Amino acid sequence: MIEIDGVSKRYNGQGKLAVDNLSIKIEAGEICVFIGPSGCGKSTTLRMINRMIEPSNGTIKIDGEDITKSNPDKLRMRIGYVIQQIGLLPHKTVGENIAIVPRLYGWPKELIEKRVVELLDTIGLDAAVEKDKYPSQLSGGQMQRVGVARAMAVDPSIMLMDEPFGAVDPIARTRLQDEFLRLQKNMKKTICFVTHDIDEAIKMGDKIAIFNEGKLVQFDTPSNILTNPAGDFVKDFIGSDRLAKRLKLISAGEIAKRIDSLSGCEMMHAIEHTASIQETMSFMIEKDAEYVGVINKGKLSGMISFADIRSYMNKRAGV
Ligand SMILES: Nc1ncnc2c1ncn2[C@@H]1O[C@H](COP(=O)(O)OP(=O)(O)OP(=O)(O)O)[C@@H](O)[C@H]1O
Ligand SMILES: [Mg+2]
Repeated sequence: MIEIDGVSKRYNGQGKLAVDNLSIKIEAGEICVFIGPSGCGKSTTLRMINRMIEPSNGTIKIDGEDITKSNPDKLRMRIGYVIQQIGLLPHKTVGENIAIVPRLYGWPKELIEKRVVELLDTIGLDAAVEKDKYPSQLSGGQMQRVGVARAMAVDPSIMLMDEPFGAVDPIARTRLQDEFLRLQKNMKKTICFVTHDIDEAIKMGDKIAIFNEGKLVQFDTPSNILTNPAGDFVKDFIGSDRLAKRLKLISAGEIAKRIDSLSGCEMMHAIEHTASIQETMSFMIEKDAEYVGVINKGKLSGMISFADIRSYMNKRAGV
């Protein structure tokens, strides 16, 4: 767990605080997304967690321990960091870049080589082809993947990721996000993830922290933020389509009514219970169906109609 308590940062010679009295608790095993306009203090906050920048005020604790009490180099070695501009060393190959922290740890050569191949495989790059290339021989998206692999090299329990998927096109980005979420299901790392993209924040975050001019404006789950945005700044920031965004977060299984009798249901179009309501509605429109069946573990377990969706959404405030 990361506890940030009353932290401010004023850079030398700057009148304004870059980070203004920030208090936030990031639970172990969760992805906390930092989002807000350019210059609102996201990167500064991230860099205070691994002591690349020292706070002007306040304390930061990791698992209950004040980080100013620990050696900054040791601290940084147990925190993976994906920097905003990817930051691969240009004169080192992909493999050497990934090996930097394991080398600092003094891992044996064979173990490092094995880990590099394993990580390249994890991020979807072919080690045989890519390992000995230099960063300049990679695409922006590939570089970004290598940056993520490098941060994961010694399997740190905390990862700080500053716009890790910023440099890739939307399709590759969706794939990277999906892969990363799949990995995180098993890794259960504590992650601070910076993005500019509200859709990415909603998809990736267990919690979202919205910043403006160095201040935390709202900190909550994506669903709560979409349902109850704290004021006009957040409302504008998340956009006028917040209902449509919420439809992506609710699953068909959540709304479906249980079917007690199967008679007549065999003919119904059906969708997996994990499908989002957005997908369910697209499916219903495509099939020109007023209601569809919902399948759980290969069995028809419920059904859902447009009226069910409407009443579910209306019951929850804020629409
Ligand atoms: N080294 C520095 N010296 C002085 N001011 C700085 C320094 N680094 C950042 N700042 C200022 O602190 C504020 C916060 O910067 P920060 O990099 O944390 O923003 P950010 O939210 O990450 O922005 P972006 O989305 O553009 O990356 C900005 O006003 C920035 O100009
Ligand atoms: Mg930044």
